Amino acid sequence: MGITVKDNLFYISSKDSSLILENRQGDLLLKHLGKRITSYHFSNTVFEKDHAFSGNPSPEIRTYSYDTQRQVVGSYGFGDFRHPSIRVQHQTNELTQFKLVDFDIIDGIVEAQGLPSPHSGEKAETLVLVLEDSVAKLTLRLYYTAFEDTSTITTFATLKNWSDEEVVIHRLLSTMLDLPAKKYDVLTLQGAYAREKTVRRQALQQGTFSISSNRGASGHGQTPALILTDNHATEDSGESIALQLLYSGNFQAFAQENQLKEVRLGIGINDDNFAWELKAEEIFVTPVAMMTYSDQGLTGLTEESQKFVQNHIIPQKYSQKERPVLINNWEATYFDFNQKKLVELADEASQLGLELFVLDDGWFGNRFDDNRALGDWTVNEEKLGGSLSALISEVHDRGMQFGLWVEPEMISEDSELYQAHPDWAIQTPERSHTYSRNQLMLNLANPKVVAYLKETFHDLLTKNPIDYIKWDYNRNMTNVGNGDTYLETQMQSHAYMLGFYELVDYLTRQHPNVLFESCSGGGGRNDLGAMRYFPQVWASDNTDAIARLPIQYGSSYLYPTISMGAHVSASPNHQMCRVTPFQTRGHVAMMGNLGYELDLTKLTEEEKTLVSEQVALYKKIRPLVQFGKQYRLINPEQGSNEAAVQFVYDNQTVVTYVRIQSTIETIETTLKLKGLETETLYRLEGTELVYSGAELMYAGLTLDMPSGDYLSRQFYFVKQS
Ligand code: GLA
Repeated sequence: MGITVKDNLFYISSKDSSLILENRQGDLLLKHLGKRITSYHFSNTVFEKDHAFSGNPSPEIRTYSYDTQRQVVGSYGFGDFRHPSIRVQHQTNELTQFKLVDFDIIDGIVEAQGLPSPHSGEKAETLVLVLEDSVAKLTLRLYYTAFEDTSTITTFATLKNWSDEEVVIHRLLSTMLDLPAKKYDVLTLQGAYAREKTVRRQALQQGTFSISSNRGASGHGQTPALILTDNHATEDSGESIALQLLYSGNFQAFAQENQLKEVRLGIGINDDNFAWELKAEEIFVTPVAMMTYSDQGLTGLTEESQKFVQNHIIPQKYSQKERPVLINNWEATYFDFNQKKLVELADEASQLGLELFVLDDGWFGNRFDDNRALGDWTVNEEKLGGSLSALISEVHDRGMQFGLWVEPEMISEDSELYQAHPDWAIQTPERSHTYSRNQLMLNLANPKVVAYLKETFHDLLTKNPIDYIKWDYNRNMTNVGNGDTYLETQMQSHAYMLGFYELVDYLTRQHPNVLFESCSGGGGRNDLGAMRYFPQVWASDNTDAIARLPIQYGSSYLYPTISMGAHVSASPNHQMCRVTPFQTRGHVAMMGNLGYELDLTKLTEEEKTLVSEQVALYKKIRPLVQFGKQYRLINPEQGSNEAAVQFVYDNQTVVTYVRIQSTIETIETTLKLKGLETETLYRLEGTELVYSGAELMYAGLTLDMPSGDYLSRQFYFVKQS
């Protein structure tokens, strides 16, 4: 593991993967990205021949062209006709030609300043490649970090201007990779509000496949991630590479197949409405990108990505810390609550074994509905029947932790904050506002706004013994136009993100014992940039158990289960109006970080018993779900009538199966389990039944399902001692 340099070759090797780059007279050529190789001798070198219409930097060598070489820096203007990785306006043009002039190897990781960076963990090493364009007078540094415990490599770039003039960056990707011709599929996690992270797989063909966001957030519609996989790859076999971005703002990712069927991948900040003014001696830093490789099918890729996110991205204190089972009052009361109602709910929750009480929206200012008061973070003591601290004591006295909902980045026009600082909202001069949920956004590109929010929320957390924060973000960015100049406005969306990260970095450092959950109308900002500060994300406002199946399935591709909140809610469900059995709702939510979001005081005695049984069982299987290896046994998408997922951890395994519509078939599904020890005996908890691992994996477990819609089964096996 680590970085080695030999014969003009740079080897960047993580646990089981290598990226090999060649320095050919200053040009950086990509020779291999895939399974680990420690000694490389050009066996796969592109046949260098004279390709018609491909430009050559030297008249003597008609076989060498930037159009056909695999590279990691794509410059516009010198014969590489693919999408560039960099566009900088300098002198009279945007052309650049970077040549390697130096390199360095550093122990550990190098942080991308001001942006979310991974933790180095046990052992990591970073290669810094220094490239210069002596005409534009720019230095491009590429950072590649290899980790010992994972097959993930992280990377980012910086650009320094050492000319006397200012230059303007129009595009600087976090990473670019050229890969050999092969039949590939491209997978993305996409969707919309209330149906986030559904998996889309399609064949890559000549041309460009791209995804992006220009919402000022990663958005519900797309995830800043792109998986390139063998077109025959399955859950269990085939090679794949996942490119992901640790960034919550406007992003782009693409896969371009050129006329030679070679593929260029890129990921970084979106070019749309983006420019960055770089004055003399200034440095621009890109967000960090992650490249994860596996030759063990999509399950292998999932394991590598989930492990990396859990061990190197989620705040370290929380990566191995079990999440509390919570009750959230949102779908129980919405805005209609008072102190009595909240205490009754807390009473019931503590009796049923729940561990965290979360007070959602509506506790501050005159926030009686979602039209007002954002920005006025003063406790409505009339509604709470006293101070916030007094309510927290009531909850703590019942043996539960206390959590609170906030939406710091927003402002309502009727708020006192807006009356005092109308210029703090994101807006364009002489244009009227664009509203969304009747709210506006604060301009976090303005340091005064960030300072105000730091103070306000530090104060809230200092004065009240809060254990958990649900940080919401309920609209996207419009009217971006606060800049005094055109360029300042073009910089605003990224400057906002730098302000956002400064704010959450400060608050999470000041309050390390508070568990922060990120939310944006569910999963509208469910990305790795957010996860670096928020160990948990509310995956979707859609709490319907059946609608959750594809959301949880898609989320599992790259994100660890421990990052995903999942709640049991009322039936009929408030979003889908669907009626589902209590058991199924519990089984589905138990495949994430279990919570309840319904009025527990209104449940029947039978339902209350079910809740306490579910909570007690969840406490037993929690380590499996939150730290175990995950297997997707049945894909709930694309017309499937079933879903099944399995977790294996230590000496235990849990399998959850859901059948959507009742069927008339008499031959039932047989689930073949995975990841067990063949000769070991496993006992089905709650019974005397014992099976060998081999039997469960190779003969399988046949499900005996009665008639009925939306039924589920859960099997919890423990190794027999
Ligand atoms: C968003 C969240 C919900 C809830 C409401 C409160 O929609 O996703 O869970 O917190 O805001 O207004």
